[in-house]
Amino acid sequence: MSDFLEFVLWVCIVLGTYKVLKLVLSVLWYLFTCCARSQAPDLHARYANRGEPENLLPQKKSYAVVTGGSDGIGLTMCHKLAAQGFNICIIARNSEKIDGVFADLKKLYPNTETTKVIVDFSELSDIE
Ligand SMILES: NC(=O)c1ccc[n+]([C@@H]2O[C@H](COP(=O)([O-])OP(=O)(O)OC[C@H]3O[C@@H](n4cnc5c(N)ncnc54)[C@H](OP(=O)(O)O)[C@@H]3O)[C@@H](O)[C@H]2O)c1
Repeated sequence: MSDFLEFVLWVCIVLGTYKVLKLVLSVLWYLFTCCARSQAPDLHARYANRGEPENLLPQKKSYAVVTGGSDGIGLTMCHKLAAQGFNICIIARNSEKIDGVFADLKKLYPNTETTKVIVDFSELSDIE
């Protein structure tokens, strides 16, 4: 084989190896990010009851305050946070709707303490 053909062959091998490695790395990165996303961060371990003993009474445990926690994204957050051990405070307008959420939370997480703040954020005077 001529020197030139040998050179072309080596260039092809190097480029091919580079492409294959790049593909393998991108697949591995994709799998890694999927795994990282599927694990919700343990917010309770990170933020709750810092410096307090583990066996606190429910009413002494940290509250997570969720604005708009009676529906949609906020409601899902309430369930996730209660599952992690937080007590739940919901801020929204409709008191009965919040009570319904609290009843559901109590069934699933009986140790969860709850409280609510009724505010209409569109009314500035309500907030003041
Ligand atoms: N869903 C999505 O895919 C999505 C995507 C991007 C951004 N967002 C934004 O994320 C936010 C929440 O979305 P969502 O789908 O979870 O909404 P949602 O299901 O309508 O829930 C809204 C929550 O906020 C409360 N709320 C609404 N207006 C309020 C006010 N004036 N004062 C106090 N509380 C109020 C509601 O309770 P009360 O009615 O009892 O007050 C309820 O708890 C919205 O701003 C939305 O634009 C949503």
